[in-house]
Amino acid sequence: MRVLGIETSCDETGVAVHDGERGPLAHRLHSQVDAHAVYGGVVPELASRDHVRRLAPLVEAVLAEADTPRELLDGVAYTAGPGLVGALLVGATFGRSLAWALDIPAVGIHHMEGHLLAPFLEPDAPDFPFLALLVSGGHTQLVSVTGLGAYRTLGQSIDDAAGEAFDKTAKLLGLPYPGGPELARLAEGGDPSRFDFPRPLLGRPGLDFSFSGLKTAVLYAREETPADDSRDADIARCFEEAVVETLVAKCRRALRQTGHKALVVAGGVGANRRLREALQGMTEKEQVSLHFPRLEFCTDNGAMIAYAGHRRLAAGEGTDARIEVRARWPLDSLQPPTGDSAPLSA
Ligand code: KG4
Ligand code: ZN
Repeated sequence: MRVLGIETSCDETGVAVHDGERGPLAHRLHSQVDAHAVYGGVVPELASRDHVRRLAPLVEAVLAEADTPRELLDGVAYTAGPGLVGALLVGATFGRSLAWALDIPAVGIHHMEGHLLAPFLEPDAPDFPFLALLVSGGHTQLVSVTGLGAYRTLGQSIDDAAGEAFDKTAKLLGLPYPGGPELARLAEGGDPSRFDFPRPLLGRPGLDFSFSGLKTAVLYAREETPADDSRDADIARCFEEAVVETLVAKCRRALRQTGHKALVVAGGVGANRRLREALQGMTEKEQVSLHFPRLEFCTDNGAMIAYAGHRRLAAGEGTDARIEVRARWPLDSLQPPTGDSAPLSA
């Protein structure tokens, strides 16, 4: 079974073809970062218009690279939320229309389910059940995953998402948008002991996160410290340490609470090298297996949507012809595949 995946929830157009036996056959991404950089953040209307321009040629290119004429597709998966409504509508309309024209099923995928399942694209795929740390620009969540579509949120950010905190802090330090990777680069040469930033909510029980106070601490530290050669690099490093330590400690706590023996990390912040190293150390001590998607599948991409769609379509989901997208969509409200049509052969 071959599924075309389309991701247009924010500022990247991602397209991929997933084959049930051979895995991802081709995937491409068009990033709009340059178009939004001048505004210091994503401008929704510009994002939608660019998806409209890019999507059809990208689909053609990916189908050609996957050596898959459209007639060989068995299904289409597209991101149906959460995200920017206009941007989502581009992928949803395109995906549903293409599926209708080809007389094949289409399925709308939850963006975070895509992230959550991305480690299944790697050779050392986890087994259910597992704990997932989802850390992106819009979400910071710890989720207990007991099966496809069986998700229970154990904790989440009560204010900024981890990626958002990276991006906002980077902006305070005068780094270009999107700041997360830039801040991580600057932090490489920084001194981790120079500033003592808070570890928000760490002293309290529970699994929620809060990152907005950290950003304020950075702002004050920068204002109070005269500029020197390493001030900003030191701030970046200490900020990164605070975020990483908080994320790792909460993961440890959640692993102990649930008894899960595998940890999956996904979403853009999962690309952070220090976070990866710290989680490696913690999971080794806890005797838990650790699973990351490869770097290019940590951030937004079409391959994870094609994969999630493949799993749901193979289980018989996706006959409805409505084009529906949701800006907000709690992950916990998802259900296992409904099986509302006869399962296609995998
Ligand atoms: O998952 P993603 O690509 O898009 C969303 O669904 O949000 O995540 C993007 C987020 C941005 O906030 C970006 O700054 C952050 O991931 N990010 C990083 C790194 N690479 C991307 N944050 C810290 N370190 C990185 N290396
Ligand atoms: Zn994402």
